[in-house]
Amino acid sequence: REKLPLHQYLERMTLEEKVAQLIQLAVPFFEGASDAGLITGPMASLGITEQTVHNAGSVLGMAGAQETINVQRTHLEKNRLGIPLLMMADIVHGFKTIFPVPLAIGCSWNLELAERSAEIAAKEASVSGVHVTYAPMVDLVRDPRWGRVMESTGEDPYLNSEYARAFVRGFQGRDLTGDLDRVAACVKHFAAYGAAEAGRDYNTVDVSERQLREFYLPAYKAALDEGCEMVMTSFNTVDGIPATGNSNLMRKLLREEWGFNGVLISDWGAVKELIAHGIAADEEEAALKAMKAGVDIEMMTACYAHHLAELIGKGEVQEALLDEAVMRILELKDKLGLFENPYRAADPEREKEVVFSDEHRAVARELAHKSSVLLKNDGVLPLKSSQRVAVIGPFAKSGDLLGPWSWTGSKDAVVRLADAIRGKADAPANVTVADGSDIESMTEEQWAEAEAAAKDADVIVLALGEHSDMSGEAGCRADIRLPLAQLELIRRVHALGKPIVAVLFNGRPLDLHGAIDESNAVLEAWFPGSEGGLAIADLLFGDVNPSGRLTMSFPYSVGQIPVYYNAFNTGRPQGAPDAQVRYVSQYLDIPNEPLLPFGFGLSYTSFEYGDASISSDTMTPEQPLTIAVRVTNAGSVAGIETVQLYVRDISGEVVRPVKELKAFRQVTLQPGESQVVSFELREEQLRYYHSDLSHSSDAGAFHAFVGSSSRDNACLPFRLAK
Ligand code: IFM
Repeated sequence: REKLPLHQYLERMTLEEKVAQLIQLAVPFFEGASDAGLITGPMASLGITEQTVHNAGSVLGMAGAQETINVQRTHLEKNRLGIPLLMMADIVHGFKTIFPVPLAIGCSWNLELAERSAEIAAKEASVSGVHVTYAPMVDLVRDPRWGRVMESTGEDPYLNSEYARAFVRGFQGRDLTGDLDRVAACVKHFAAYGAAEAGRDYNTVDVSERQLREFYLPAYKAALDEGCEMVMTSFNTVDGIPATGNSNLMRKLLREEWGFNGVLISDWGAVKELIAHGIAADEEEAALKAMKAGVDIEMMTACYAHHLAELIGKGEVQEALLDEAVMRILELKDKLGLFENPYRAADPEREKEVVFSDEHRAVARELAHKSSVLLKNDGVLPLKSSQRVAVIGPFAKSGDLLGPWSWTGSKDAVVRLADAIRGKADAPANVTVADGSDIESMTEEQWAEAEAAAKDADVIVLALGEHSDMSGEAGCRADIRLPLAQLELIRRVHALGKPIVAVLFNGRPLDLHGAIDESNAVLEAWFPGSEGGLAIADLLFGDVNPSGRLTMSFPYSVGQIPVYYNAFNTGRPQGAPDAQVRYVSQYLDIPNEPLLPFGFGLSYTSFEYGDASISSDTMTPEQPLTIAVRVTNAGSVAGIETVQLYVRDISGEVVRPVKELKAFRQVTLQPGESQVVSFELREEQLRYYHSDLSHSSDAGAFHAFVGSSSRDNACLPFRLAK
């Protein structure tokens, strides 16, 4: 059908048709779909009419070129005005080519590769009929009990913001209308979903507005500054009001203060959940509050469908509010070119060529190399191809390397770690393999098999971890050690007295007790994606040198949580010159410091830092400082070093973190090579939110730190003069 000017659609739509545009339904509601798609929330019968389905504005969780074409075609036959459906889906870390989980991507500190991964995900998703991805997820995270930490890039607002921008650039490109290989991005979950109390999913969030603005909001804002088309609300409360019904957050902050004019969508069921939260007595009040807060699309509940027309009739909601919401949705459809071409890039033939191509898989492999973090190595790594290796553990032969949110990927296409290791060995017979245990249980038969596999081995690679359902949405754990069966496996293997290399596949920082001390080396592989098995073998045998750096602290034990590097000092810090033995801020039984800090990661080479220099002891708004340090590769293999710059404001108007990341640089150095790495530090990087929420810097004393992690760095004092 011929496209009309957008306002004419609006003028021709009945009230019911307008309301239906705001409804988003999962795949099972649509005719022409051959499977149920991705279901990521409760599937109650919504009690909506067939007519409402024909007029619905969008679908979620559908992918596949033929499938989306079928559904769109059937929809357009039934839809009176010929308004196409928007197809949205969670394409979080890849489509068919699955990249490492976002927390792992974070550990690469490689923004170009992060962007490239999103670009590839967009290309594969788009040719398969997807128009919008519910990504990036940019929630700042401090609590590894929360299963969704694997979806975030970590605990730092600056780094998360840089990644948010990179992902949006990758998904959307520069020209969403003209470039059919891109999809619209939807940043989520607005706001502060990562601060769920006690690390339990969907739980209460209660942070001060200063905390919100300083730590939690910057990454969402960065995504929007990069042009992100959509925002998704979070499930949690923000200052006592669930985000989905929170006018302060959505209308005042997001729309008025930040000027966001794109589509705002609820999370799955979150409009109706206002009732369970206790700010709405029934569906009608939930619809009223969500609408007033500015939620355009209601995902998978029908409060709008049942009550919005009536609320408008009673004068409780102005029709203009509904029109604005409809218009924003039509504008997004228009921007994606759906009125001219409702199938957009969906093409079953091209889909076969594009998805999971060799080129895309090579990028996934490179990103898996760069995302893995070497946590310990007493010299047992890298392995030699002549060594006899026993690969033992529940991940030795497992295809579960994709991680949560990889519903479009295929575990069958994953090269298993044991096979990849066999591919590196001089002789396949040098590699023996056994499960040793399942993820959460162990039998004596499994142990006997493991013992036999280990018998003649020079070294044992223990492939351990969490299965992918143990993290992700609703995947929270109170005990974040490896499952007990695997700790028992480590204990027994350790007793054999052979060198142990532990490779960990998991979606959160773990409490590594029972694993790290018993191993000679530990490689954190996270969920490394489609090419993970091959990539990890490359790292184990030194064909690639590990370079990942943690972007979320590994706690010493669960009792420390939340533990993060950019914390406040307290009035009685440990180690203060006048500190007493007892009356300081500390635990009696464990250290204050995490086991492994933000920014930490080892390499097969060693980097030496020369004395750092600072261009002046005084900075002014007009006169930035240059901080420089010479870094030398003192080992015998090439390696990538991530040089990190932190700052501490010594005397703020409100207390300031003991360290804040301000910049970083990656350098690749050949053995013996050295390079001067320099940073410019400007006054605006010293600004923060004051008690009145103004954003500015204070004159006075600062410390700059430059080094290889948040713990290991040299201090350079300076002053800001204004
Ligand atoms: O995008 C997701 C969100 O992150 C969690 N709830 C369901 C949504 C759609 O699948």
